Amino acid sequence: MSQSRPASFPYSQTDVLHKHAQRHQQLKIQDLLSTEADRMDEFVLSAAGLRLDYSRHLLDTSARQSLFQLAAESGLEQAREALFSGARINQTEDRPALHTLLRSSDCPAGLEPEFAEVQHCRANMQGWVDSVREGSHRGFTGQPISDVVNLGIGGSDLGPRMVCEALAPFHQGGPRIHFCANIDPSDLHATLAELNPASTLFIICSKSFSTEETRHNAQSARSWLLAAGAGDAAISKHFLAVSTNLQAASEFGIAEENILPLWDWVGGRYSLWSAIGWSIAFAVGNDAFAELLTGAERMDQHFQNAPLPLNMPVVLSLLEIWYVNFMGAQSHAVIPYHHNLRRLPAFLQQLAMESNGKTVNRDGETLTYATNPIVWGDEGSNGQHSFHQLLHQGSVLCPVDFILPMRGSSADNDGQMRLVAHCLAQGQALMQGRDLRECREQLLQRGVDKTRAEELAPHLVIPGNRPSSTISCTSLNTESLGALLALYEHKTFCSGHFWNINSFDQWGVELGKALSSAIYTAMSGEDVPLDASTGALLKAWKESQGKN
Ligand code: F6P
Repeated sequence: MSQSRPASFPYSQTDVLHKHAQRHQQLKIQDLLSTEADRMDEFVLSAAGLRLDYSRHLLDTSARQSLFQLAAESGLEQAREALFSGARINQTEDRPALHTLLRSSDCPAGLEPEFAEVQHCRANMQGWVDSVREGSHRGFTGQPISDVVNLGIGGSDLGPRMVCEALAPFHQGGPRIHFCANIDPSDLHATLAELNPASTLFIICSKSFSTEETRHNAQSARSWLLAAGAGDAAISKHFLAVSTNLQAASEFGIAEENILPLWDWVGGRYSLWSAIGWSIAFAVGNDAFAELLTGAERMDQHFQNAPLPLNMPVVLSLLEIWYVNFMGAQSHAVIPYHHNLRRLPAFLQQLAMESNGKTVNRDGETLTYATNPIVWGDEGSNGQHSFHQLLHQGSVLCPVDFILPMRGSSADNDGQMRLVAHCLAQGQALMQGRDLRECREQLLQRGVDKTRAEELAPHLVIPGNRPSSTISCTSLNTESLGALLALYEHKTFCSGHFWNINSFDQWGVELGKALSSAIYTAMSGEDVPLDASTGALLKAWKESQGKN
């Protein structure tokens, strides 16, 4: 690998797209809607039970065509083939990225051994799920399992936690599911406070089995069980583990038959489809977990087979390229209009920002162009009473993805209608805005006197012309959720490809881990050389402990 040679955006369409971007400074999304006759046919895609409406984007048909050309010339089809066929595309860690195999119902050619291992693991996982849900697996006093606690962090937490919440209406007949990720002892303390050790089952989820947070929490959980009278021998009734590092899990004291494998070819943030998703299966049962995989597989098939201009992940990614690399956006909001999807933004933060938050290309060359924007968001309609102010009137270009299951999960149809109305209105308001004249007139109509109306009107102006996509499905269920998550996985893959980034490593998180270990040593009394600022903070900590 060469070091830090600058790499510019390497496409023949780059200059053309910059010109399109300049031209778009004068365009209005609303005008595109009225002048482009086929826009509502051409800017709407359907796949795997999802509907993507991207008509409310500041992108005309001609600029879109240049983006499609960029995709065609980029070698995306070959990259996609490499992904699905198990090529070692994660070159810094010298391994494939084969999360799609975890939900594949057919064995792809050449991947027979991996496919067999996945099937074997799933059968084991299913056996455990049945025995816990049916009550035949029992704790150290003979009680059935009432609560399952997932101990893991990052990809070993965010995906399973988000899916368990999203599928809350489908939890029937299973144990209650809890998640503890943070090394802050108050997290585990709060989780355990309500639980009975005799009927609690822990799953230690850690791809590496070396993550400090997870190991520390697992040790504390074991102490909690021992303190409740579970002897060492009975511990195995209460601990499962999922890891690539079977030896470390076994050395930790987990019985061999309680450990399910993970493989180095599954990235942590892409792992909820593996046994890392055990908690999901405990919550909803094996059949529903299989439906989640089916939904994802349907999106995989769409991604593999649809022509690039009609390919939903490709289009979402090209929109990202358009705004980040040509329109200067540094921020992207995802706003799900379903309370049960409230953790989706946190999941997507790891997926997108850990995958593509990088500034060197696959060859180690420093990029001269922007890469992943900051991804953020929260559930609608709550955000409307908070950060939507900035979306409507702030100075930042921030394209929004509205996620909208049309039918709700409760019997309150009127409440659901109101929620949908809010979602549609937010996209409409971002697009159409409200000009000075309109604001003045509205104030006068409300009976505000003319002078005051003149003063107030500028504060009410909403610039509009702000872009959004609406990704909808009939309802939020196992299949539509699987498809939605696979959609974002593939979008992330495409963007990484266009930016020529390795989306499957995460070297940037390592330095902090190493430094915290040195600081912990210093806190324990050893002499460790520290910079002045960190040294002063450490001194403040020592003072808080009554130490000098
Ligand atoms: O620190 C980052 C990270 O390695 C993530 O990529 C991963 O999902 C998380 O930590 C947890 O890692 P593990 O599953 O190995 O405990």
